[in-house]
Amino acid sequence: MKVTPWEVEGVVDYYKLMDEFGISSFSTLVDRIPNPHRFIRRGIIFGHRDYDRIIDAIRSRKSWAVMSGFMPSGSAHFGHKMTMEEIVWHQKMGGMAFVAIADMEANFVRGLSWAKTREIGFQYIKSIIALGLDKNNSIIYFQSASRKVKDLAFELSKETNFSELRAIYGFESETPIARFYIPLVQAADILQPQLKDFGGPKPVVVPVGADQDPHIRLTRDLAARSSIFSFEKIENGVRIRSRKGVNYLEALKGLNFEKKIYEEHLDVFGDQREIEDAVRCVEVEIGGFAFVPPSSIYHKFMTGLLGGKMSSSKPESYISLFDKPEDGAKKVGKALTGGRATASEQRQLGGEPDKCVVFELFAYHLIEDDRDLAEIKENCLCGKTMCGNCKKLAAELTKNFLSEFQERVNEAESKLDEYEIIY
Ligand code: TRP
Ligand code: SF4
Repeated sequence: MKVTPWEVEGVVDYYKLMDEFGISSFSTLVDRIPNPHRFIRRGIIFGHRDYDRIIDAIRSRKSWAVMSGFMPSGSAHFGHKMTMEEIVWHQKMGGMAFVAIADMEANFVRGLSWAKTREIGFQYIKSIIALGLDKNNSIIYFQSASRKVKDLAFELSKETNFSELRAIYGFESETPIARFYIPLVQAADILQPQLKDFGGPKPVVVPVGADQDPHIRLTRDLAARSSIFSFEKIENGVRIRSRKGVNYLEALKGLNFEKKIYEEHLDVFGDQREIEDAVRCVEVEIGGFAFVPPSSIYHKFMTGLLGGKMSSSKPESYISLFDKPEDGAKKVGKALTGGRATASEQRQLGGEPDKCVVFELFAYHLIEDDRDLAEIKENCLCGKTMCGNCKKLAAELTKNFLSEFQERVNEAESKLDEYEIIY
């Protein structure tokens, strides 16, 4: 298996992936999340970094944000719908939503013209609005049009170098500099919600596919390196150092906690989160970024309709959100199932929903009620349903979804100017 931001290959073993990347399992958090989205309930979101911070923020109603980005490289499909729904759900849970249209990435990596990235970008924007993005508490922008993001990318670029990016992305001496710039712009996308203009440091969660984790790791490192103060847990408190010279420690003398002052650091005693928040407040006052390391969640990749990967060059491998409803239904009819070779064998042994793309469609997109989904699974496992009938249901649901969705996209078109969109 190979999972990088530029390619995903082979069958993905999510346990192995978490282990290799150092992603934590999401399953232990599920019980603490109010009104969990079906991706959460069904283990489709399998991993996270620092999501505890977001749960705390949701519950304590502190200011926090959700942000993700979309490369406008082809028609929006059910894979994009996953990330879009995750943004919308987090916004409903109280987060401010940031939506980046990664036109710089599409322009360079995919070679699309700016006119094309704009056209596709607006298709994505209408899609996320159709999926429920609220105009209040949201900002949508094209990377190329965001002065703030580009300026921040420059600031972050001071904190990394060739060796580091080569180690993470495998860059070589012939690699065009634009390739180096793209992860920095993405890091700026992710850290932008924490700028002073948006209320300063705060928890931010980034919903993505696991292929984006290298960018997340880099961003978390850059967040720390571009902030003045660093934190290290000690017994009953936090040790604080300054990355930009010991003089900055002066600024922390007024902190309202029990503390011990040393030449090179400061030991502060009390609740870790509270201390860190207080220190970040001071840092912002003296002009620092004081970034909170961003949190992330990872969803599983959807399987291509014919098995294997979804590939933008093979339209029969995925359902586009803009397929004619009948065409979408037809694609479902041809999808790979977990059915047996013959009907009688299937009646005896039952089907294999865990290997079935149609069942995946139900679980990821088409069936909201967990009991209905469980029933479909049981009827499959015990050999009561035949794949033909099952596919009919999936095709019908797909058709209905697409026609309702496309109607909402048309409505979104006329509402676009109510949204804050930077382009
Ligand atoms: N690189 C992402 C992709 O290929 C798109 C992206 C751009 C992004 N900026 C982001 C994702 C910020 C998450 C956060 O799909
Ligand atoms: Fe998939 Fe349905 Fe066939 Fe089971 S019966 S393998 S869920 S299509």
